[in-house]
Amino acid sequence: MYKKEIVLTFTAKLMVLFMTGPRVQAQDVIPAPVSFTAEKGAFSFGEGTTVYYDSGANAEAEKLAGFLRIPTGFPLPVKQFANEQNGVVLKINRSLNELGDEGYALTATKRRVVIVAPTEAGLFYGTQTLRQLLPVEIESPEAAQGVDWKLPCCTIKDQPRFSWRGMMLDVSRHFFDKEEVKKLLDTMAAYKLNRFHWHLTDTDGWRIEIKKYPKLATVGGIGDRTNPDASARFYTQEDIKEIVKYARLRHIVVVPEIDMPGHAAAANRAYPEYSGGGSKRNPEFTFNPGQEATYAYLEDILEEVCALFPGKWLHLGGDEVHFGWEKWKTDADVKAMMEEEGLESLREMECYFVRRMAGVINKLGKVATGWDEIASAGVPNENSMVMWWRHDKPNLRDKIVKGGYQTVLCPRQPCYFDFVQDTNHTTGRKWDGAATLEKIIAFPKFPKNYTEEDKNRVLGLQCNLWTEKIKTVKRLDFMTFPRLLAIAESGWTDEEKKDIDNFKRRLEAGLPRLGARKIYYFNPFDPESTPEVHE
Ligand code: ACM
Repeated sequence: MYKKEIVLTFTAKLMVLFMTGPRVQAQDVIPAPVSFTAEKGAFSFGEGTTVYYDSGANAEAEKLAGFLRIPTGFPLPVKQFANEQNGVVLKINRSLNELGDEGYALTATKRRVVIVAPTEAGLFYGTQTLRQLLPVEIESPEAAQGVDWKLPCCTIKDQPRFSWRGMMLDVSRHFFDKEEVKKLLDTMAAYKLNRFHWHLTDTDGWRIEIKKYPKLATVGGIGDRTNPDASARFYTQEDIKEIVKYARLRHIVVVPEIDMPGHAAAANRAYPEYSGGGSKRNPEFTFNPGQEATYAYLEDILEEVCALFPGKWLHLGGDEVHFGWEKWKTDADVKAMMEEEGLESLREMECYFVRRMAGVINKLGKVATGWDEIASAGVPNENSMVMWWRHDKPNLRDKIVKGGYQTVLCPRQPCYFDFVQDTNHTTGRKWDGAATLEKIIAFPKFPKNYTEEDKNRVLGLQCNLWTEKIKTVKRLDFMTFPRLLAIAESGWTDEEKKDIDNFKRRLEAGLPRLGARKIYYFNPFDPESTPEVHE
């Protein structure tokens, strides 16, 4: 660096310090807001600070105070806003339609921090921005000492680009308990992610209690990818309710996935009478699509699942069925069903099954959601939603979107977090290289021939964390962070505002927040400081 540049950089830093007072800068927020203006001075939190609410904002005000009390140690009483009091003020204003379903406006002056939004979700996101404007210790789960709790004066107007900003967690290959899931939900919410896709069933374990078929959990829950004999691990229905509520308070919708007709080996260990067999490589991989009893069984299961998850979407998987459908060729029930329904190939049998189960999900009042295979299975495009995951098939993505399906983009590149995030890492998948921050920030790009209607059908994006090679929370963190923040940026921030250099600058400033949350993240700016975790 030239001397002149050093002097300039130093002067700029001094100026920022002088202008804003505290260390945190309004321009550091992740994901980047639509617009912000940094102003002079700061609002100081202290023993006497009150959180006020107006017009129905009391629940969000209570939540904000609850989040802030622990690290600050301040009492932060929550009161109805009456006059022009100083403090933090949260207001719902339903007529602010221009901010959409999740937008907010935040104005911080020396006397007052005001967040206004048309919805509770918008207010919540305003409070998450407020939190990022406070010193890093605000992220601490314990009381922090000796912190100057100042928030830089600024004006922010903000709303997301996409309505679907998600993360999928596979808890079948390795199980992560209730508290671990909650910690992930906390961090997702802090970066304004709003969908938690829970991959609850697969070959290695069935992880959700179903009262009518208790062995699904107690037998199907036995084992994981590391140890097939590990004692059963699953979420009870009470656990599920607790997590769904925890997520809802953070404006996160939980989308359960019960994978079918493939990836069903754990269920088949518990109730072999519904197995459609498998292959040498994937034994007992499928449900039997030829038996009426299978449909009744799966409908019973989905009914219980539906009752636990109030969100609109229920995910039936539908992926990779051909990995284990050989036995269908010789199964008498499958053969009879194929004849009766005029199905000429195993693929047609699979499609019949998927269409029929999508109908069950619709009948239960939910949007039938699945991996991209379900679109070509002929599931109607109304009342369904498709997740495009096969990054090597971009034509399929376009066929789905142009075919009128609501679509979430989660192509392996750059959205699969079981891929390494740095080419120097050795454990994890590589296909077209690593899934890097650069690729995530550049994602998604719509093809030129997409109309506005096509673009509107793309609800958003999510990352998918498959856990075949993720056994511990430490490795889960290492594979997830800081990439999750790039997913948050690509889900929230407008395309023309995204810029990798600017993102990296904010990320470097923001990484200590992950540390304060006790997350073991990969540090792309100092890779030596965060050695790879292999299991
Ligand atoms: C998938 O990765 N099988 C959806």
